[in-house]
Amino acid sequence: MNRRKVLSWFGLGWLFSGVPTLLTACSNDQATTPSPSTTATTTSAPKSSFRAVGSVAQLEKDGQLKADGVLVIRDRNNPTTPLAFNSTCTHKGCTVDWKDGEFVCPCHGAVFAPDGSVRKKPAKEPLATYAVKVENGQVLIASK
Ligand code: FES
Repeated sequence: MNRRKVLSWFGLGWLFSGVPTLLTACSNDQATTPSPSTTATTTSAPKSSFRAVGSVAQLEKDGQLKADGVLVIRDRNNPTTPLAFNSTCTHKGCTVDWKDGEFVCPCHGAVFAPDGSVRKKPAKEPLATYAVKVENGQVLIASK
């Protein structure tokens, strides 16, 4: 057997050794690709849901509700509708407190107005807000 024949046999062997792998890969793609009808039913937009963060009675008593990074206060202009904010300061992530009618960050002194807008730097962005509703005496905020 000369050198050329040996090389051609190796080439054929290499080619055929990859055929099973290639066939397996193709069959796996077909098995995991969802059908168009399945895809259509799973691509709907997520619905927002609400979760309770406390009672209206507690909000009235304490003037605020704190739960899982959310701070709820009463809207002075519309006392029946609470306002909910993410209590994470937009400067560097400390937790703001509700004091004397404004949000105060204990870390670097940023102050936010009752609507979440910046009153005093170093924060530049307002506090993030949540949609709020009241049902059966409970304050509910939208999950994002
Ligand atoms: S983290 Fe709030 S002012 Fe810096």
